[in-house]
Amino acid sequence: MDGTRGRLLIAGLAALLLLSAAPPSVTQAEDENAEQRSILSLIGARAGEVIADVGCGKGTWTFPLARAVGPHGRIYAVDIDREKIDDVRKRKDRDDVKNITVIHSIPDDPMLPSGQLDAVFLNDVIDYVGRSALAGFLAGIRSALKPAGRLVIRDPNGNPDRVIAECYRAGFTLVEAKVPLSSVPTRTFSNTWYALKLRRAEEMQPAILPRLGKPTRFRTRLHLAEELFRLGLISREELRNTWERIENAPGSFDPKVDEALDLIRAAEAIGVVPAKRAEALRTEARKRKP
Ligand SMILES: C[S@@+](CC[C@H](N)C(=O)[O-])C[C@H]1O[C@@H](n2cnc3c(N)ncnc32)[C@H](O)[C@@H]1O
Repeated sequence: MDGTRGRLLIAGLAALLLLSAAPPSVTQAEDENAEQRSILSLIGARAGEVIADVGCGKGTWTFPLARAVGPHGRIYAVDIDREKIDDVRKRKDRDDVKNITVIHSIPDDPMLPSGQLDAVFLNDVIDYVGRSALAGFLAGIRSALKPAGRLVIRDPNGNPDRVIAECYRAGFTLVEAKVPLSSVPTRTFSNTWYALKLRRAEEMQPAILPRLGKPTRFRTRLHLAEELFRLGLISREELRNTWERIENAPGSFDPKVDEALDLIRAAEAIGVVPAKRAEALRTEARKRKP
């Protein structure tokens, strides 16, 4: 090989090496930043907050969350997989991150401290929790949250109805649903992501659980309208109209006072009747008691 060809070969190899070591394209980096921003704003993570990243895996979201809550906040990184938890622990020790607590949990209990959390985040986790573990898993999250604490669920399996129903059953109310989630980066394997923002409810919600109460004709109508609303088939306006028709229908609160109270409570939980009006209706229903 003569000198010129040799130099060309070396230059070519050097260029190849440089290319393979190049940082990710700007588009992917931008994509990841946008995803991070959208997740942090979805969770509403603020400085000083205490948040759990349950099913944290290797900590993809644990570390950005730790930066968002800052030195006066805390992130609980929880997972049932010992290897993943060890990875998070190693990375946290290596980078000397002081505001992360690692918890190796069990399937039906995230093993979080009671009543201390502002929010819990589940990213691509809920579908992995087995049916028999789900009730305990959600109950553990509920009792770890402060009153009105937030539960944010982001999942690639675009079928949130079952999850919403399970969360209601576990004592959460829905604040916001993004179905499908529009800000999902193009590089992900699924385009059916959704996000739910729920809050710990004061008491267990009867709204979409007719089997817990005795559904009356009116209660069933309200329940069905709510299901249609959740499926995106009717608007909130139409849901409210259904309630107004029930409220004005003769005999809708008769004859049994507990059924009437149940109906009003359901409407209140769905958010179609303001608290003041609900109270007035309750007073009226009690007066009719035979
Ligand atoms: C697909 S990974 C998602 C990891 C991470 N949240 C992310 O977005 O990169 C699902 C994780 O949930 C964890 N997991 C499954 N069931 C769980 C449970 N009952 N409690 C806690 N973690 C669980 C798995 O071990 C796994 O690490």
